[in-house]
Amino acid sequence: MSDFDANEVRKDFPILSKTIEGNPLIYLDNAATSQKPSTVIDGIKYFYENINANPLRSLHKLAEESTKAYETAREKVARFINASPEEIIFVRNTTEAINLVSFSLKMDRGSRILTTYLEHHSNLLPWLRLRDKGMFVDIVGVDDNLELDMGRFENIRQDTKLVAVTHGSNVTGTITDVEKISRLAHASGALVLVDAAQTAPHIKLDVKKIDADFLAFSGHKMLGPMGVGVLYINKRVIPKLGTFLTGGEMISSVKMNDIKYADVPAYFEAGTPNVADAYGLGLAIDYLDKVGMDRIYAYEKKLMDYLYSSAASIDCLDIYSGKSRERGSIFSFSVKNAHPHDVAYLLNKKGIAIRSGFQCAQPLIEDKLHVKGGVARASPYFYNTYDEIDTFLAEIKKIGNMYG
Ligand code: ALA
Repeated sequence: MSDFDANEVRKDFPILSKTIEGNPLIYLDNAATSQKPSTVIDGIKYFYENINANPLRSLHKLAEESTKAYETAREKVARFINASPEEIIFVRNTTEAINLVSFSLKMDRGSRILTTYLEHHSNLLPWLRLRDKGMFVDIVGVDDNLELDMGRFENIRQDTKLVAVTHGSNVTGTITDVEKISRLAHASGALVLVDAAQTAPHIKLDVKKIDADFLAFSGHKMLGPMGVGVLYINKRVIPKLGTFLTGGEMISSVKMNDIKYADVPAYFEAGTPNVADAYGLGLAIDYLDKVGMDRIYAYEKKLMDYLYSSAASIDCLDIYSGKSRERGSIFSFSVKNAHPHDVAYLLNKKGIAIRSGFQCAQPLIEDKLHVKGGVARASPYFYNTYDEIDTFLAEIKKIGNMYG
């Protein structure tokens, strides 16, 4: 494929030819979860029909193949973000990845964590919880452009152990300068965790360039199945981490009074792993590689510019978007006088799927966007078309007229 054609790639996604309420489905809820290509759907069936066995434990042929499928998926994920396989931990999702760090990072009472107003609850609650354990949590604000107050990273307090920051807001679409934040945090002696849930599906990530200590993302937002996510842990920080879950396969030897743990990644993957979904995530990465992350990024950028410029002339809309830096594939809005759930309900009647409410980012929406009851959010992906954007905006105008 040289010229990117969204109508061509759509053919690989069976669900996109469904109708909803008698209308062709227009799926604009990709920030919540993406749809899956046939290769992923069929691949999971293939796994259970041909490979299924508990990996890493048994010596029979299927167990060997299951282990190979699992470790090959790990290698694909590592290559996808320019890491080494032993730096890749399979978890359930971004939420679990961040909780893993919050439970296992060794910190003294009185340590500080610096996070931001742009965070999803998943990168906020694991840190706020630590206040009960005697830690302090500082929150970086946002400016009028809904960009992070970067000055707060210039002089990070010496007792700050971790900076936990999103790479892309799931509400404003703001793409943060994580390379600069990592540089500044490391200069102050703090570790850095990047929540890449909203960027891994859209932007080519390079953990060596970002230079974070931890980076988390979910498989299901990037064409993979639900139930598998990734935590990248930079090798250099492993001594700073204690145990998370304990149990099978995360040890090398167990005596009643002497336990020797396995090396990472096994150390953080106690219990039977989710091999089928890791295998599915590997197939999703194959698909993204085939289309090309650069082409995905370029197409989505044009599509989003088109969406934002077309929406600018619609009077009934309030739009909540990062303005000065790069913007992700997120369009959050309110229709004047309409509750966002009503907007989502009316769009659904036309086959259009969006998300409405607090978007798991209530402090950002209430304290910084000053919106009660949440916002409506459309989040396109590379299989969405310009025609779908036109239909979406035409329906928004009709809703605006109803409530105007
Ligand atoms: N984090 C997902 C979203 O923003 C669920 O919708």
